[in-house]
Amino acid sequence: MDPRLRGDDDKKYIYMTTAKLASLMARGTDFLGCETAILCGAMSWVSERNLVAAISNAGGFGVIACGAMTPELLDREIAATKALTDRPFGVNLITMHPQLFDLIDVCARHEVGHVVLAGGLPPKGSIEAIKQKGAKLICFAPALSLAKKLVRSGVDALVVEGMEAGGHIGPVSTSVLAQEILPDMAGQVPVFVAGGIGRGEAIAAYLEMGAAGVQLGTRFACATESIAHANFKKAFFRASARDAVASVQIDARLPVIPVRALKNAGTESFTAKQREVANLLDSGTIEMMEAQLQIEHYWAGALRRAVIDGDVEGGSLMAGQSVGMVTKEESVATIIAQLMEEAAQALARRAA
Ligand SMILES: Cc1cc2nc3c(=O)[nH]c(=O)nc-3n(C[C@H](O)[C@H](O)[C@H](O)COP(=O)(O)O)c2cc1C
Repeated sequence: MDPRLRGDDDKKYIYMTTAKLASLMARGTDFLGCETAILCGAMSWVSERNLVAAISNAGGFGVIACGAMTPELLDREIAATKALTDRPFGVNLITMHPQLFDLIDVCARHEVGHVVLAGGLPPKGSIEAIKQKGAKLICFAPALSLAKKLVRSGVDALVVEGMEAGGHIGPVSTSVLAQEILPDMAGQVPVFVAGGIGRGEAIAAYLEMGAAGVQLGTRFACATESIAHANFKKAFFRASARDAVASVQIDARLPVIPVRALKNAGTESFTAKQREVANLLDSGTIEMMEAQLQIEHYWAGALRRAVIDGDVEGGSLMAGQSVGMVTKEESVATIIAQLMEEAAQALARRAA
């Protein structure tokens, strides 16, 4: 018997709250094809076969982070993930990847059901290429006007991600973006809210505002099934919300997308990297596109050093403000069960 149930009344009570949660998540679970409308957002180096399969096996929706992978590497990663789960999962592709269309082909060959495009507006032809092959397309909407534009162009679902999130961030908080975008867009396509979500109470609140589901990254980064180095995980367990700071742009001519990460020596070396790239721009050695690519390669390398090598001083410890709610290593199934339980209880308290 479920340990949460103490008698028939409790049984009914729990059933009702769970049914309410399931009905609020129904659009999201139908769209994703899984049991809970909880996506684990793609995290470069972290969201590989093991974590992605574990999330999907536990009833959530895992997403492979393609990052800077070549088409060959992505091909292998998808095949390896399929060997670990027969449940649906997605692939996150970065729009500025020079081989984006080859990567789309790899996803199509594997009949990946959901592609997430991150890192800016979808380049010409990419929406058609993804949808032609039958996949559903999910994009990030940083403002209401862009959300409308994306849906007009054929995007099937949106992620609304606020600046509390780990990794690359926009300037607006999750709570404000959700209020800006959900009232207009939730009736048109499934909208998943991301950024700063660490507990189920927040999930319940966004579902009640019209979200079809949520996307979390930080809360899952240190799960038992995550291959992140023990040093990386330890740094997360010790950190509090205020340790997860956004990078600072030092040169107005070089617009860099801010990244939220735990403060360390690597934070300072990013300032030096920006100066180096700005100087190359000034001297005409490189163009803006190349400058931005160099910045992105810097982040990919720095994140790898922290996640894979365990260099928590010089590497990048990308983390969202919910990092304070990550206190120990737990299995993905435990984390999802806890989030669902908290969300159900929150809905029950409101209904009482
Ligand atoms: C370590 C780390 C790496 C990330 N890498 C990526 C990435 O490669 N592509 C992407 O679209 N989002 C990336 N993200 C963002 C997550 O997919 C997710 O949207 C975000 O973590 C949600 O906010 P939260 O961290 O507050 O839960 C990353 C986040 C973290 C913490």
